[in-house]
Amino acid sequence: MRDTARPPADRVRIAVQKSGRLAEDSLALLRNCGLHVDRSKDQLFCRIKELPIDLLLVRDDDIPGFVSSGICDLGIVGENVFAELQEAGNGSFGAAILERLGFSLCRLAIAAPEDAGVNTVSDLDGATIATSYPHLLKRFLRANGLAARTLLMTGSVEVAPRLRIADAVCDIVASGATLAANGLRELAVVLRSEALLIRSAQQLSAQKEETAHRLLERMRGALLAQDSKYIMLNAPRSAVDRIARLLPGCDAPTIMDLNRQNMVAIHAVCKETVFWETMEQIRAAGGTAILVLPIEKMLS
Ligand code: PRP
Ligand code: ZN
Repeated sequence: MRDTARPPADRVRIAVQKSGRLAEDSLALLRNCGLHVDRSKDQLFCRIKELPIDLLLVRDDDIPGFVSSGICDLGIVGENVFAELQEAGNGSFGAAILERLGFSLCRLAIAAPEDAGVNTVSDLDGATIATSYPHLLKRFLRANGLAARTLLMTGSVEVAPRLRIADAVCDIVASGATLAANGLRELAVVLRSEALLIRSAQQLSAQKEETAHRLLERMRGALLAQDSKYIMLNAPRSAVDRIARLLPGCDAPTIMDLNRQNMVAIHAVCKETVFWETMEQIRAAGGTAILVLPIEKMLS
């Protein structure tokens, strides 16, 4: 049966950020899962040919709502946005985390002007803090016994202290460039965030359930492959044990005889980053012709 013949009700609908940092990583992951995302400019809806999946390209802040209301079955969203809505709903929220995706790392942090004489968050007792994340900020203030006012801003939070409408900010920090450019010093981390795959609490049809499961397996494989490398090298047989201990995230390398006396080839999948330092140590231990190759896909 061709996918196009399926009733739309059986196609899994996924909410993905339309544009921004999360969008690039999300679409790259979907491509690595074998889904071709052809999207023309300003397109909100994208039909996937390879699996019964449709993408809805929306603002990141709208993703948890689309998923919790069941308009979308799945969503890829930053933990910051998800946690804020979950906190706003007081824990009862119609969506749950299906998988932590490990990319788009950032943190929600409190920062104050460098010249304000504020050294720790406790100096902010009674102050006003501008944020787009009022619920997470309030939870943090409660947990730390601080009485600060929150000023809700939907964007350009970092300029609030300069405008003298707030004493500090509680905003997303990734590289830290925005804080530095605005003369702000980070005082405390409120939440560490990564991209999440979330799913609606509503029951899915058996067909959708199967599609979602297949996609999840592919995502896990793609994410694992991203960090993994295939390493090949030659070494004297006597060095095998020492070299095997140096291989990051690998428990059983394959050892093959070479036609040269006492030399073997070692092949291994390293499930952690292979650094130049590691390669130098392997060479010092007797390894030669060391090759580190990317792995495209993995399924175990
Ligand atoms: C966040 C945040 C800062 C910036 C921080 O905005 O509001 O402006 O990123 O990143 P940096 O530490 O690398 O400078 P984002 O780009 O997520 O857009 P949004 O707030 O409009 O969603
Ligand atoms: Zn946003």
